[in-house]
Amino acid sequence: MPVLTEPVALEEPVTPATRRARVALLGFGQVGAAVAARAAAPPVNTRLQIAGALVRDPARRSPPGVPLVTDVSALWDPAPDAVIEVLGGLEPARTCVLGALERGIPVVTANKSLIAHHGDELLAASRRNGVALRYEASVVAGVPFLGTLARRPLARDVSQVTGILNGTSNFVLTRVSRNHEDIPTALDEARRLGFAEADATKDLDGTDAAEKLSVLIRLLGHRFVHPSVIARTGIGCLQPADLQQASEFGGVIKPVATADWSAGPVTSFVGPAFLPLTHPLASLEGVTNAVCLSRPGHAHVVFSGPGAGPHVTAATVLDDVLELLGEDGGRTGWSGLAPRASIGAPSESAWFVRLDLGAGAPDQRDVADLLGSFGVWIARTASPGGIHHPLTRWILTHPVAPARLSAALEALALSCGCRACSLPILEDSNA
Ligand code: HSE
Repeated sequence: MPVLTEPVALEEPVTPATRRARVALLGFGQVGAAVAARAAAPPVNTRLQIAGALVRDPARRSPPGVPLVTDVSALWDPAPDAVIEVLGGLEPARTCVLGALERGIPVVTANKSLIAHHGDELLAASRRNGVALRYEASVVAGVPFLGTLARRPLARDVSQVTGILNGTSNFVLTRVSRNHEDIPTALDEARRLGFAEADATKDLDGTDAAEKLSVLIRLLGHRFVHPSVIARTGIGCLQPADLQQASEFGGVIKPVATADWSAGPVTSFVGPAFLPLTHPLASLEGVTNAVCLSRPGHAHVVFSGPGAGPHVTAATVLDDVLELLGEDGGRTGWSGLAPRASIGAPSESAWFVRLDLGAGAPDQRDVADLLGSFGVWIARTASPGGIHHPLTRWILTHPVAPARLSAALEALALSCGCRACSLPILEDSNA
């Protein structure tokens, strides 16, 4: 397959202390372009030359010095020193990454879908070929913490991980709550800034966060949990009034992802949750993401920073490349995995519930009695009323199993047509 544009020789003088390395890019979207731009002026002694970039569209224009190809085999001869995969999605990313690893070429990827779905296969290929596969930018793209944990068995000896893992949904909820924008307007801005996925449904419905949680469970819990079995709720269920009411209750609603294996089996959840203001994730706004690691009897460890964006992602990707080229020529791999683990939903929590009651709704005491007959006890209630929400009430419950809450809300729906939206309340386990 032809190379669509010719490489241009680097003009900068190479000092004796400067190393030069050739890297191939798989993908040349926003992140790929940011990688190429940063690679041209690294603040280190390794000067990276982009040997070529795989693109789908042969009509694409590229900057000088970045040859574009439409057939990945054009990138293998001569073999680059490293491959950077920023195509996103599963195929052709999986096939191309396997092709590089089988040829003994180390790979850096920012692709959480790829690692979440095909991590077993790719890490096995990495080990088999004695060549590195790094994926630091796949989770909380701007914060290099996965490599630290991968190298440190005591630091990664945790039994619970809770995070805000999707920059776009946190950005959108922050804009809805602070600027009173609607979700489509806030999402357009997230797209403009390069935060959102090509298919932004994956940001809003929890798919992206579930994939990242799966990557974290693999690394920290040493278990393989397929992203599709992680229970998830999208932020589309929320109304602006929910965010206001959460504030009245002394908390915030955040798009969280949480997993716990302290009792053996993994429990997990992805979706909006009510957080008390004391929770370490409660103050994170905009595209900021964080991962909070805990184990019983120990203080939280929190890694926090930008979760999305072409330039922060490119910086982390290039750090992976420079580290693996510099440390040992890319001969190391991350650890393997235990057998596949089963997974269930969290067993019990308190809940933030919005009740949209129909006309002729029962009074507050009757609602409380009905919920109580299912073991759902109300801790706080509010019905601010007003012209926009004359029949809306919010309640905070005491801890109860999700199945009991569902049964109670179904009974309420049958009795008066009430619609409900319920979010788990995550307590600060350090408090
Ligand atoms: N769409 C993703 C996010 C990009 O918003 O978090 C970074 O993985």
